[in-house]
Amino acid sequence: MEVVHTIPELRAAVARARQAGKAIGFVPTMGCLHEGHLSLIRRAKEEAPFVVVSIFVNPTQFGPSEDFSKYPRTFEDDRRGCEAAGASLIFTPAAADFYPAGASTWVDVEGVSAKLCGEFRPGHFRGVATVVAMLFNAAQADLAVFGRKDLQQLAVIRRMVRDLHIPVRIIAHETVREPNGVAMSSRNRYLSAEQLTQATAIPAAMAAAKALAQAGITDAGRLQGAALAVLKAQPALKPQYCEVVDLETMAPVSSTAGVRCAIAIACHLGATRLIDNADL
Ligand code: PAJ
Repeated sequence: MEVVHTIPELRAAVARARQAGKAIGFVPTMGCLHEGHLSLIRRAKEEAPFVVVSIFVNPTQFGPSEDFSKYPRTFEDDRRGCEAAGASLIFTPAAADFYPAGASTWVDVEGVSAKLCGEFRPGHFRGVATVVAMLFNAAQADLAVFGRKDLQQLAVIRRMVRDLHIPVRIIAHETVREPNGVAMSSRNRYLSAEQLTQATAIPAAMAAAKALAQAGITDAGRLQGAALAVLKAQPALKPQYCEVVDLETMAPVSSTAGVRCAIAIACHLGATRLIDNADL
């Protein structure tokens, strides 16, 4: 497995693989890899023999009061994980090289970015869409794998690829969870053992909404109420949003009848912000 830092090196390696007749898979990450990321890499490897993993903590998707500078950086562990999961190449550019000096171009995916995390993290999805467009241009992969854990991010990327005619196939991969049901996240390492237990109220809240949906309830207010009741029973959790949304547009709905929907939740637990979602 190669490790490269520049776009010309990345493009040369991808061109060699393509010349050898290999399809190219791509998994963008910010590092601090856990089993969720590694399952994305294994999935990409099932779909394409040459798999590029990018590791880049993207400054433009963090707000001024967010954890950019203290975001965990664990390159040696990440390198071993990528290799074991079947990656062919890691692309890990320096921020100063990747954004050209004076870069002034943004990709803004309106509508899909507006609600949920977009409301509480202004500029976040603009940073995500811009860097993913840059990474797609750099890697020129045939397909890219994203986690359903970041449901709104997935919807934003799908819309961007559709609207800008970017020639890459987007594959969504299931959320990988801790044994106690909490979605794996690089930010889980900020949690104490007690907080990791308290966080189980999030999957429990989603399960409560899903149980009602499976019993035939389509009123979004009732589904949301059932989930919120579970969240509020855990005083350590401070819900930021808990919404029933249309999977494609990320817009809150009043009824799930005839619409593919999910329940999406964001909570603060101490200083850590956790998100999760489940199809309904
Ligand atoms: P990061 O948070 O490192 O996540 C990289 C990819 O791993 C994303 O597609 C995310 O949805 C997926 N992922 C994270 N936790 C997961 C889990 N528990 N199960 C399954 N997949 C999981 O998302 C980003 O980085 C950045 O925004 C990025 C797209 C790289 C742009 O900077």
